[in-house]
Amino acid sequence: MTQTILSVDDVGKQFGGLVALKGITADFKEGQITAIIGPNGAGKSTFFNVLSGALKPSTGVLKFRGANLAGVPQHEYVHRGIARSYQITNIFPNLTVFENVRVAAQAFRSRFDIWTNRGVHKDIDEKALATLASVGLSERRNTLAKFLAHGQQRSLEIAVALVADPALLLLDEPTAGMGPEETREMVTLIEKLAADRTILLVEHKMKMILGLSDRVLVLHHGQLLADGTPKEIQANPEVRRVYLGQNDGYA
Ligand SMILES: Nc1ncnc2c1ncn2[C@@H]1O[C@H](COP(=O)(O)OP(=O)(O)O)[C@@H](O)[C@H]1O
Ligand SMILES: [Mg+2]
Repeated sequence: MTQTILSVDDVGKQFGGLVALKGITADFKEGQITAIIGPNGAGKSTFFNVLSGALKPSTGVLKFRGANLAGVPQHEYVHRGIARSYQITNIFPNLTVFENVRVAAQAFRSRFDIWTNRGVHKDIDEKALATLASVGLSERRNTLAKFLAHGQQRSLEIAVALVADPALLLLDEPTAGMGPEETREMVTLIEKLAADRTILLVEHKMKMILGLSDRVLVLHHGQLLADGTPKEIQANPEVRRVYLGQNDGYA
């Protein structure tokens, strides 16, 4: 429980002359839910992209389970145990729910199973079904993805990321565009998924973050402004000044 799964040491990212991230240092413990918040342009997406391997940091060191990620290509991250779901919908609208997850399971497995056979197909089908069950989509498995409700589409995206059995799951605004009911369901799902993996999420809904997260990181102008429990973050005057005050508060 208290093992460090991911360590971030003095990480920075520049785009030309623009400093998007600067001097970020944080260790993430196994099994925790951490939320990353901050105003627009604070560097949240950049940080996420660096953690998921989509961007290489300009400076600093990232270690996953003690191994330096510097030379590791992005496609290798998922095989190491780091997977993300995308804010931009990343599913095939004209495939069924089951087919979407099956394609993802097959893509993940193909590296190990060049010679496909019936046994492997059965394995992949079972994996896809089990993954759908874990996000509560079993009953919708034969529905075309485009006919799912918005919240269910977000659950399907998460299922696509889960087929790799990631130890670290990165969620980019999992409740974006959701109403209160769908948000509550997503919170329940995230809590369930956190029982056996580590979760990092970018979110805007303060009330949800404060109830769900073990820890909150606040980014501001590319720097780590605060790092603490939801209680500590709520009480932090600087955070209130730069973020909570100008945002939609605790809505
Ligand atoms: N690929 C990029 N090229 C140039 N500038 C970028 C790129 N991605 C992000 N930025 C800049 O980096 C800063 C942080 O952006 P971002 O990480 O998207 O913030 P957030 O997700 O917190 O809104 C912004 O000033 C943004 O314009
Ligand atoms: Mg962003």
